[in-house]
Amino acid sequence: MSNVEVNRSATRDGKVPIHGAEAFAAMRKAGQLAAEALDMLVPIVRPGVTTAHIDDLVLQFALDNGALPATLNYRGYRYSTCTSINHVVCHGMPNAKPLKEGDIVNIDVTLIVDGWHGDTSRMYSVGAISRRAERLIEVTYEALRLGVEQVKPGNTLGHIGAAIQKFAEDQRCSVVRDFCGHGLGRLFHDRPNILHYGEAGDGAVMEPGMLFTIEPMINLGKPQVKVLSDGWTAVTRDRELSAQFEHTVGVTETGVEVFTHSPAGLEWPSRQS
Ligand code: MF3
Ligand code: CO
Ligand code: CO
Repeated sequence: MSNVEVNRSATRDGKVPIHGAEAFAAMRKAGQLAAEALDMLVPIVRPGVTTAHIDDLVLQFALDNGALPATLNYRGYRYSTCTSINHVVCHGMPNAKPLKEGDIVNIDVTLIVDGWHGDTSRMYSVGAISRRAERLIEVTYEALRLGVEQVKPGNTLGHIGAAIQKFAEDQRCSVVRDFCGHGLGRLFHDRPNILHYGEAGDGAVMEPGMLFTIEPMINLGKPQVKVLSDGWTAVTRDRELSAQFEHTVGVTETGVEVFTHSPAGLEWPSRQS
């Protein structure tokens, strides 16, 4: 996801780009390939596996399919995925430490196919997880679903954030404010910002042809985040668990098209093995 402050568009007039049918066709391809990469990882994520290995597999999958991982060398980031474990909110960097039973991990993949970006992430359970971790994952998935449900012409971007915030807070969870969803297409991070909190009626009115991600980060504890000295890893200040799911969507004449649904139906539950 993009940091609220650094997100800016190549178009500097403040308008949200409107894309045509060719862009939607391209986004379908990119979104499906990114979702397939996440499907591939379902049987891989288990105790003892390293996030570095997961990262290698995603890079190989991308190259085998004529794609490139958008995060590789993006603003100095060196990996093909973000792997955010337990209290890591986002932008966790793959490393050689094995996953252990009970961990929950978000794996975020953005693939560039024919110049277009498909950006998606899911939660994976490592072996058996605690009931509170399972509940957080369920709340986060439902929050994303409710946000996606608000996408239609005439609604505002604020309808998305409001739906996510209301549900998450009703479930005694909190919404991270420091990172947001983003427009994308030929650019990785474009206008508009998609806040995961707010009020219905706030922000731009949605129009057919807009392309963006929705990617709520939901915490079991307080919403505050800090970024570690590596410059990337964002963690909860209270070290409580955090979860996230992400879809890339387009606004259509009648509502929404989700480009990153799992082709194999593995989106949730993510652990099938
Ligand atoms: N894929 C992330 C997103 O959802 C972006 C990660 S940027 C990185 O927007 F540099 F940290 F990889
Ligand atoms: Co994103
Ligand atoms: Co992402």
